[in-house]
Amino acid sequence: MPEFQTSPGMRDILPPESARWRAFVAAFEQVVERAGYGQVISPLLEDLGVFQRIGDATEVVSKEMYDFVDKGGRHVALRPELTASVCRAFAQHHPQTPWKVWYHGSQFRYEKPQRGRYRQFDQVGIEVLGADDPYLDVEIIALGWEFFATLGLTQVRLVLNSLGEPADRAAYVAALADYFRDHSGELSEESRETLQRNPLRVLDSKRAADAALVADAPRIDQFYSDRAAAHFAAVQQGLSALGIPFAVEAKLVRGLDYYRHTTFEYQGLTLDSAQNALGGGGRYDGLVESLGGPATPGVGFAIGLDRTLLACDDEGVFAPPTPRLAVFVVDTTGGAEALAIATLCRSAGISADRAYDNRSMKSQMKAADRSGADYAVIVGSNEIAAGVVVVRPLRAARPTDADGGAGGGIGGGTDDGAQYEVPREQLIETLKRAMS
Ligand code: HAM
Repeated sequence: MPEFQTSPGMRDILPPESARWRAFVAAFEQVVERAGYGQVISPLLEDLGVFQRIGDATEVVSKEMYDFVDKGGRHVALRPELTASVCRAFAQHHPQTPWKVWYHGSQFRYEKPQRGRYRQFDQVGIEVLGADDPYLDVEIIALGWEFFATLGLTQVRLVLNSLGEPADRAAYVAALADYFRDHSGELSEESRETLQRNPLRVLDSKRAADAALVADAPRIDQFYSDRAAAHFAAVQQGLSALGIPFAVEAKLVRGLDYYRHTTFEYQGLTLDSAQNALGGGGRYDGLVESLGGPATPGVGFAIGLDRTLLACDDEGVFAPPTPRLAVFVVDTTGGAEALAIATLCRSAGISADRAYDNRSMKSQMKAADRSGADYAVIVGSNEIAAGVVVVRPLRAARPTDADGGAGGGIGGGTDDGAQYEVPREQLIETLKRAMS
């Protein structure tokens, strides 16, 4: 075992999986840019205070933050999510509203690592600042829904709730705290501790001991103001009008503390229930203000890349893209010609790879086969002397009217005759014709 390994909960994403990650982000970009969202790229690290505004009662903030004092004495943290950073950016730069942005990047949370739960994980997401419109909530939820469909996922369930206006939510939390306190003897020890910090999160308990109490707990919908009820009704009506199926779950509380009104989660039905949230979001009216900006409504979601790809594996969709290589250069004269030809191909926009270390012809041809290239371009000393190269189709059909025809030199006449010689200066033109 080598001395160093990735830290717990952190992973190397290697090819070809890394190409799949890029394709994931590209697919997301396409869905959201079509809807008028522009990308925001913000720092990985911010003043700790930015993330504290997410809410001290949130475990992400109170327990899971990667924070430290930098060399300048600033207390900073690696971001655990991007919504707070986007709100900080809004307060800092005063863009025109509605400000519609999307993002992609890594987040850091000191969680207990397991399948689908990591300490460094990636998210894609969108946020809109400066609009109150319930149909904006619908647009956002629908974009996430469309994105999952783009990936080919079908086993996704949309769960919806509203936490009401700040006053509704506060009254509900107080009622919930009273209820759980009255029954604290029946609560699991963990939930008793959660109750001190954040009564809402007790609803999230997956422990059997808490199940009956949670089931009978007061419901948020008993606390909605007229405005909150109207907003939530409009969101549901809008989703139905778009034909997007959803389930209202009055006990859906999200891990972060800034939500008001609409909250939602996309759950992956193939995943283990403790880690089945592929993505989630909601309204967070008030967060910009708490970061020193003007009172500004906000709504958005984030989708976890790592976890959503696990769901893709489970459903056998969105496989890594197959890398396509056009040319593999085989050079038995030392490698300088391979370097020259590969460079020539690449400059002409033709993907090309080559063998190194002056291996034998046989070993280089094996490498060419393994590479998946469409053509081997082969040079030996005879070819160099004659100013030609041999093109051997490995997978592709032979071009109809190739220059030179099958002939001498390396391998000439030794195979099925599919290979042919071309003058070196016509190589690019010949390859382009063959590939078109
Ligand atoms: P979140 O629910 O904390 O929300 O995270 C969103 C998604 O990120 C989760 O559904 C999950 O897929 C993924 N995720 C979270 N933690 C982990 C982890 N430890 N390992 C792997 N994946 C993880 C937010 O972050 C909010 N900022 C979403 C939002 C945007 N709300 C409004 N706008």
